[in-house]
Amino acid sequence: MNNPIFNLIVLLLLINFCKISSSSPKSSIIFTTLGRSRYKFDIYTLPISITQSPPSISFNHQELKLTDGVSVNFNGHFPINSSSIFSLLNQPTSSSTFQIVYVTERNGTSSIFLDSVDVADDSWTRPGFRVALEAGDRDRVRVPLLDGTKSKVSMKDSPSLVGKELVYVSTREDSGVPRTSWAAVYSMDIFSGETRRLTPVGVADFSPAMSPSGVYTAVASYGEKGWGGEVEELGTDIYVFFTRDGSGRVKVVEHGGWPSWVDDHTLFFHRRDENDGWWSVYKASLPRVGGVEAESVVVERVTPPGLHAFTPGTSPGNDEFIVVATRRPQSNYRHIEVFDLKRKVFKDVTRPVSPKNHHFNPFLSPDGTRVGYHKCKIGGNGKKGTGGDQILLLENIKHPVPDVSIFRVDGSFPSFSPTGDRIAYLADLDDGFLYVVNHDGSNKKLVHKGMAFTTAWDPIRKGVVYTSVGPNFASERTKVDIIAINVDNDDLSYKKLTHGGENNAFPSPSPDGKWIVFRSGRSGYKNLYIMDAEEGETGGIHRLTEGPWTDTMCNWSPDGEWIAFATDRENPGSGSFEIFMIHPNGTGLHKVIQSGSGGRANHPWFSPDGKSIVFTSDYAAVSAEPISNPHHYQPYGEIFIANVDGSNVRRLTHNSFEDGTPAWGPKFLSPVDVAQPTDERKCLFDDCYWLSIKNKFGMELTLDASIGAQCYKLQ
Ligand SMILES: *[C@@H]1O[C@H](CO)[C@@H](O)[C@H](O)[C@H]1NC(C)=O
Ligand SMILES: *[C@@H]1O[C@H](CO)[C@@H](O)[C@H](O)[C@H]1NC(C)=O
Ligand SMILES: *[C@@H]1O[C@H](CO)[C@@H](O)[C@H](O)[C@H]1NC(C)=O
Repeated sequence: MNNPIFNLIVLLLLINFCKISSSSPKSSIIFTTLGRSRYKFDIYTLPISITQSPPSISFNHQELKLTDGVSVNFNGHFPINSSSIFSLLNQPTSSSTFQIVYVTERNGTSSIFLDSVDVADDSWTRPGFRVALEAGDRDRVRVPLLDGTKSKVSMKDSPSLVGKELVYVSTREDSGVPRTSWAAVYSMDIFSGETRRLTPVGVADFSPAMSPSGVYTAVASYGEKGWGGEVEELGTDIYVFFTRDGSGRVKVVEHGGWPSWVDDHTLFFHRRDENDGWWSVYKASLPRVGGVEAESVVVERVTPPGLHAFTPGTSPGNDEFIVVATRRPQSNYRHIEVFDLKRKVFKDVTRPVSPKNHHFNPFLSPDGTRVGYHKCKIGGNGKKGTGGDQILLLENIKHPVPDVSIFRVDGSFPSFSPTGDRIAYLADLDDGFLYVVNHDGSNKKLVHKGMAFTTAWDPIRKGVVYTSVGPNFASERTKVDIIAINVDNDDLSYKKLTHGGENNAFPSPSPDGKWIVFRSGRSGYKNLYIMDAEEGETGGIHRLTEGPWTDTMCNWSPDGEWIAFATDRENPGSGSFEIFMIHPNGTGLHKVIQSGSGGRANHPWFSPDGKSIVFTSDYAAVSAEPISNPHHYQPYGEIFIANVDGSNVRRLTHNSFEDGTPAWGPKFLSPVDVAQPTDERKCLFDDCYWLSIKNKFGMELTLDASIGAQCYKLQ
């Protein structure tokens, strides 16, 4: 048996066997994350000066950029008592050295980094010099505390570092229960790497913060209540436990989020006030002796009504001021302000520096002399067209399923051409105009000018793309019609396939190119219909589903036997959607995917071999407090795949943003990013809509025109 030739033959047989038995053919999935391509987030800092007589807090406005401008860097935190880490790494630290721990999303995954940045360069102290200076890379030491490429794929968030103990959120463990968040808090000794889950199994924790001694950790949590679909305010409570092992867990505040400690007995947090509706910062004083119970905790409101103040940041022992994000009634932008606790006044931090920009999640240095935050910046040198800036057209995402590559596209409702070489999508920031582009980013071409949604390629007739023209998320009677465009023609001409304008949308052709299934509101309800693919409804139409509910987002299987779709038929109008399948002749109706009770599973799309579907769902609930992020209607949206019988549900994306409208294509695209140049100089995304629109309390707040007439219900 020790014959090398024989061994070689066995090896070759094994290799061949493995090839044959490989589970699924190679393919690619493409999806949308609302706004994410524009998040060129980096972490910045500004100095705070405090004078004693007269007592006042002031700033010089020399903003310093602390992170490296690679992809998305956010949720920073100045470590407490961690400089010894760098001494142990033989890296000098001095008064001009900053340490910063933060989340970074790069190379398709999320990691936590600790940077030590030397900013010893007096050019940035010049008075009046307002351009953000970036600390040079040669002065940077980076320690990837949690490298997303090595550990299991997950979202990482909200790091805080005291001494050598890192506390953070990760979504790496499946909660095992549909519609239950995977967000849990972990601690790690950054020298030994020893990691512990601090959140009990079956519970989700968000926004952890360690007390300055590192002894306690506070989190925002549902406790046993679970998630009920909340987006604007999660309705969490604040729990405190020992950082050491998660023991001694106790609820200290009913209704609150985003805790931040001043000392081991005092923390600040935010909540939306139940009476006047303004997001405000509150202070909780925990008893100094005995066990902590919510009843013995003293809670007082800190910031006044009349503006939203949230995501507080504190520094150890500092009872003079805190730092907050605000939305003032007259402003469309989220800014960082200091709140003077003694004199009860706000001081602008970021408005004088970058008035027309959103600034997020402020934090203070341990000595209280610096505020940090993250913001987005596109268009470095200020001259249009010369910035050399890039936005990712396709961003490759790391995930656990072999033989499938996954891309986030800079647009929505993407779909692959039948060969998988071309992509059609709608440019969100260009009024929903329809583009096609080669998968390598070449030959980008505008093919329809006008608001549209959904795209699908004809499987037989080359270059024919179907879309629906009109507003998304609209009522049954809204004027929306299906058109066919030959994208290889240069004249932007198209053929109308429906004419009545009764919200005819989500066209999906049969694999022989003869029929199109679509949803229409023509009966007064959105149900599914099938029409002639070339002639449209005048060439023949029949109704596939019928009932006083919504059937929508249909996709025809590659073997022609099934149509998958999303429906709220089990609870019409509730906002809850399940994925069903039906034969094109109307038989065989059955449910495939349900995300818990009251949940959402939407936008099904068959794999090229017809054995799986990809879809978007709230199956893993929310992963962070939505107010700590820019605007997302459905921050719980993540991409999943499952077998066509609904078994083997697997999560592909991990983030706190809205992922949606996935499509599956037949070609395996190499898992690398595809960049496109941009002339944009602004970061074009919205702040949370519930901070700007007139709300149920009747507050007159400025409405950002770009938010438009969207509604929150997915139809
Ligand atoms: C990201 O990928 C690039 C190219 O493959 C590589 O040079 C870089 O080191 C990676 N960055 C991280 C943080 O892994
Ligand atoms: C700072 O960290 C060192 C080493 O981790 C520890 O020995 C020391 O007690 C810490 N100091 C404070 C004030 O927490
Ligand atoms: C309907 O279509 C399915 C799948 O093509 C087929 O198995 C079934 O026999 C058809 N039923 C009728 C009543 O035509």
